[in-house]
Amino acid sequence: MAETVFVSEGVKVAGQSTEKEISGKNDLYQLFQNTPIPKDHVLDNLGLYIRRQSLSRILFMHELYKKILDLQGIICEFGVFWGQNLALFESFRGMYEPYNYTRKIVGFDTFEGFAAINEKDGTAEIIQKGAYAVTKGYEEYLNQLLQYHETLSPIPHIKKYELIKGDAAETIKKYLADNPETIIAFAYFDFDVYEPTKVCLEAILPHLTKGAIIGFDEINFHTFPGETKAFDEVLGINRYKIYRDRNNPIPSYIVYE
Ligand SMILES: C[S@@+](CC[C@H](N)C(=O)[O-])C[C@H]1O[C@@H](n2cnc3c(N)ncnc32)[C@H](O)[C@@H]1O
Repeated sequence: MAETVFVSEGVKVAGQSTEKEISGKNDLYQLFQNTPIPKDHVLDNLGLYIRRQSLSRILFMHELYKKILDLQGIICEFGVFWGQNLALFESFRGMYEPYNYTRKIVGFDTFEGFAAINEKDGTAEIIQKGAYAVTKGYEEYLNQLLQYHETLSPIPHIKKYELIKGDAAETIKKYLADNPETIIAFAYFDFDVYEPTKVCLEAILPHLTKGAIIGFDEINFHTFPGETKAFDEVLGINRYKIYRDRNNPIPSYIVYE
């Protein structure tokens, strides 16, 4: 089945689910909404409702996080959307290195979807300005969630996350100028599109420690050719071993050497 655009309450994303898969997901959501589990128990039992696809993504993020434990540097996610990865990184930090208060977690997003489209992004239907925009004011809600996770971890008085709102092709330069001490141990690229991927990759190169992990969510993927193009132009497909995750067809990473 070809990639198509799914719209839910105005939020546009790409997908290739069948009718059967969509209806199965709706059924699961109904079961979740009508849960007979008392509210004090629901959050401790979310595994009941996590689908294989979502679980495999969580496990992939966990694998990547474990690879940077001995590296100095911050974590950047380029393309946040609802921010699940940022919350996961906060939990992994709390689990594996609760006292590493220099392991800042920084998320870059317009929170208004794709900002700039380039001809290298191809012609898939999802390639349009504003795709992947979150609901209005969502970043405030995400900020509260990230603050909550941090408050429950050690050293809560030092803020260790940041949300940088705006076109990352612009905001990355200001962030690095404002934080000249930045060393990056882990960067996860999930803008999907060419221009911000290329600009941010180029900008972070001088800040990457040797051995840093750079993840790419949409590489070698026909719907979003721009991400692979940006990777090739900045790093070079032939110059790196591009590892994939055995549980996921697309997400990949390199070790920066
Ligand atoms: C596929 S979503 C990210 C998904 C997220 N990483 C996850 O795992 O759920 C792509 C995100 O990139 C953001 N984005 C695309 N172009 C951008 C740009 N030029 N500057 C900042 N954010 C951008 C969109 O707003 C969108 O939230």
